[in-house]
Amino acid sequence: MTLFLGTFLDTPDANAPSGVRLRSDTDTALRVADGVITARGPAADLRAAHPGDEVVDLRDGLVLPGLVDTHVHFPQVRAIGALGMPLLEWLDRCALPEETRLASADYARAVAAEFVGGLVGAGTTTALVFGSHFASAVDVLFEEVDRVGLRVTSGLVVSDRSLPEPLLSTPDRTYDESVALARRWHGRERTRYAVTPRFSYSASDDLLDACAAVMKDVAGSWFTSHVNENQAEVAEVAQLFEEAEDYVDTYDRHGLVGPRSVLAHNVHATDRELSLLASQGASVAHCPTSNAALGSGLFPLRSHTEHGVRVALGSDVGAGTGFSLFKEGLQAYFMQQLLGPAGLPLASPDLLFLATRAGALALGLGDEVGDLSVGRQFDAVWVRPPVGDPLDVGLRHASCAEDALAKVFALATPGHLGGVWVGGDRVRG
Ligand code: GUN
Ligand code: ZN
Repeated sequence: MTLFLGTFLDTPDANAPSGVRLRSDTDTALRVADGVITARGPAADLRAAHPGDEVVDLRDGLVLPGLVDTHVHFPQVRAIGALGMPLLEWLDRCALPEETRLASADYARAVAAEFVGGLVGAGTTTALVFGSHFASAVDVLFEEVDRVGLRVTSGLVVSDRSLPEPLLSTPDRTYDESVALARRWHGRERTRYAVTPRFSYSASDDLLDACAAVMKDVAGSWFTSHVNENQAEVAEVAQLFEEAEDYVDTYDRHGLVGPRSVLAHNVHATDRELSLLASQGASVAHCPTSNAALGSGLFPLRSHTEHGVRVALGSDVGAGTGFSLFKEGLQAYFMQQLLGPAGLPLASPDLLFLATRAGALALGLGDEVGDLSVGRQFDAVWVRPPVGDPLDVGLRHASCAEDALAKVFALATPGHLGGVWVGGDRVRG
């Protein structure tokens, strides 16, 4: 048994990113057995009650729930940082040439180590990961994730048109390779399978049917893709799918939109699409730095929440500018500010909710991770800046817990993390 001592911040009772209540407990202990939080209370009481427990002292700094990234691309670590291009040009010139290199399992192994290192280094403990177009590379990713111990849902990315030839598949191959990967990785330890057509722009109806067949035959599998990211892309998709009502319908017609679906972006959503996503219980991954870097647009968070659509955060590496969900939270806040009255004003507890519990809810893991209540897994991030660092100064002079948390979102980088735990295991020192 282990007692973790510290100041713990989380958002256990929030369900939407507005008016979120922050729970902040100082001089507190969490008692962890087999990775699960079994007791929580004043540190003095728990220490007296359990004198034989190992004690881990995290009182210098703050402890937050492990961060949850609901949209991040494994093969794009080396593509981070390209500026000045809209989506389709960025795909052609930056992302897709790099993704073709993952045909080599050796290349994929090096990228997988960089990718998983990037997640852990940023305090991300759970992620929905866009995999590779190559099954061998997806295996390599799962092996690395399994070795490090992260909670990852991922799968084979599939397309059968509009992309460079080495990245294309067929409906039959999609079904066979996806099911084979799911047999190896779905529901094993902390990994699950996600059916992943890249986007309707690169998928035929037959391919989307094959995706639906995989969803049906792999019980409890997840679905992820892109939607309504960029206006030129939305217009192309409307031409390709003349019978579809709109972009969301290109997936929904194949039964791919439901409570286990996470669609990335949705910047240019219609009311019909928002109503449909809400009624089907699907989630949207909001990727603020990506939307800004590619000039995709300002995400309509207010209309998502008003329609009752669940929203969580995604880094969208490599269009996004890094792995840090603190940076994504801050950028989400900026973008809502820029929308003026149409935006949803966000306070620091709303940002913490978006970066933790909202992701857990989107991924169906709300009973396991996302906050630090009794019964949850001990997935945690220790924010501990060096003495004299601007974040250290900020935390020491913060007026209240909400103020301290705002400083974390404004200033925290991976270099400020003193430790990261998944299921009670330390995955980063
Ligand atoms: N749409 C299709 N593929 C991608 C991708 O790799 N990144 C982003 N941001 N959008 C996409
Ligand atoms: Zn993406």
